[in-house]
Amino acid sequence: MVLDFILVNFALNITNMKLNNNKILITGATSGIGRELTERFCKLDNQIIAVGRNETRLEELAKFDKRITSFKCNVTSQSELDRLVAYINQEHKDLNVLINNAGIQYDQTLLDETYTLQKIENEISTNLTSPIKLITSLISVLQNNSNSAIVNVSSGLAIVPKAKSAVYCATKAGIHIFSKSLRYQLEKVKVFEIIPPLVDTEMTKGRGKGKISPQRLVDEFTKAYKNNRYEVNIHKVKLLRIINRISPKIADRIMKGITV
Ligand SMILES: NC(=O)c1ccc[n+]([C@@H]2O[C@H](COP(=O)([O-])OP(=O)(O)OC[C@H]3O[C@@H](n4cnc5c(N)ncnc54)[C@H](OP(=O)(O)O)[C@@H]3O)[C@@H](O)[C@H]2O)c1
Repeated sequence: MVLDFILVNFALNITNMKLNNNKILITGATSGIGRELTERFCKLDNQIIAVGRNETRLEELAKFDKRITSFKCNVTSQSELDRLVAYINQEHKDLNVLINNAGIQYDQTLLDETYTLQKIENEISTNLTSPIKLITSLISVLQNNSNSAIVNVSSGLAIVPKAKSAVYCATKAGIHIFSKSLRYQLEKVKVFEIIPPLVDTEMTKGRGKGKISPQRLVDEFTKAYKNNRYEVNIHKVKLLRIINRISPKIADRIMKGITV
């Protein structure tokens, strides 16, 4: 009996995640990492619901391939989130993957007078509260479908913070721990976390060195996803985590000093 249980669980865990024939909702699909995830999963023959605020870019995405459906939604607005959830419940009950990628970062400190409470609220809502709300609202749909997964995008800054963007670092640490706890709660729906280093996107325009391309990130992620590796440390984040394990003080010193 116990052996059966262990074997069934082992079998469930070693079944590869399917990279095709999924229906995937991607937030922040209009730019950077989200755009690359959208194009890649589309090429792999999945149906995509691309979410963002920029109408022109959403229209472009929908024209790019008929497997992409776009939906305009500001994830920080409760009424717009409600509309998105109602749309999924009515039209896309077969949704089996949710990718929470939308994010913003203010490259500022609390001493900067232009870093207003409104900006702080927006940053927390976009990066932390909205993904949690969306997961909570769509969990029953995901549970009802097979090969289902939630993918949250955090950051290397969730592991070791930098001096600037303290609120951003806190939101990413929040989504990191949330993802881990949620993984313990859910059995049927797999919970993945992409932990990127510096990536060359609009978010990092004009700052930082040694950035990787969104394509490289998605290459690494899709391999990990297929093989059920839930916490996906991308590129330099692997090294950061090793340094942090050996000497948290050295990791802190490295990251504190970075100016991007
Ligand atoms: N780039 C990096 O170095 C890096 C490193 C670590 C983690 N990350 C994370 O990776 C994710 C993607 O970032 P990126 O670098 O690809 O940035 P990006 O190019 O600036 O893209 C951000 C995306 O988020 C969407 N978005 C922002 N606010 C939104 C809102 N209120 N409602 C709906 N969509 C919203 C934007 O779409 P619209 O403008 O159309 O709304 C855009 O598609 C973020 O979570 C970010 O924190 C990035």
